[in-house]
Amino acid sequence: MRSVLFVCLGNVCRSPGAEAVFNAFVRREGLTGRIRCDSAGTAGYHEGEPADKRMQCHAMRRGYRLSSVARQFRPETDFDEFDYIVGMDDDNVSDLQSLASSTEELNKICKITDFSSKEGHDAVPDPYYGGADDFELVLNILEDACEGLLNEVKTKAGDNEDAQDQ
Ligand code: 4NP
Repeated sequence: MRSVLFVCLGNVCRSPGAEAVFNAFVRREGLTGRIRCDSAGTAGYHEGEPADKRMQCHAMRRGYRLSSVARQFRPETDFDEFDYIVGMDDDNVSDLQSLASSTEELNKICKITDFSSKEGHDAVPDPYYGGADDFELVLNILEDACEGLLNEVKTKAGDNEDAQDQ
């Protein structure tokens, strides 16, 4: 089982969106049970809350149901439990890096747009104080980048299985 943790600031907009999009792609490819994901925030402002209503509405229009409950990133356990710790912007990545306590933990951290196929987006912009277009942009970037991330996870999972077979 490979595992991915999506991380933004509040865990109510971008990372719950990433979790829902990625889960839909995992299901579509019949990989449920082989790849799992979760989401968290670097801050705990919204601990216990459902995803932001605006994010839920925009995602629902594209067929993604957001069911996550916000929680803060837990360095003591999340670095162990997940293979990929995926931030949405440079602040998320540097906050995560400051919480890592080994090279192995540092090496798990990446930014979701590292997997984008389209040029022009080097982060998922925070939509919290924005409007409808900002939430649509979040979903456009997430759909593209999650495709690339899933390919990466599948390739690495395949490499590991090959190594175990040898
Ligand atoms: P997110 O967006 O990091 O994508 O969940 C935000 C949610 C809440 C806040 C900021 C960004 N906030 O300041 O409460």
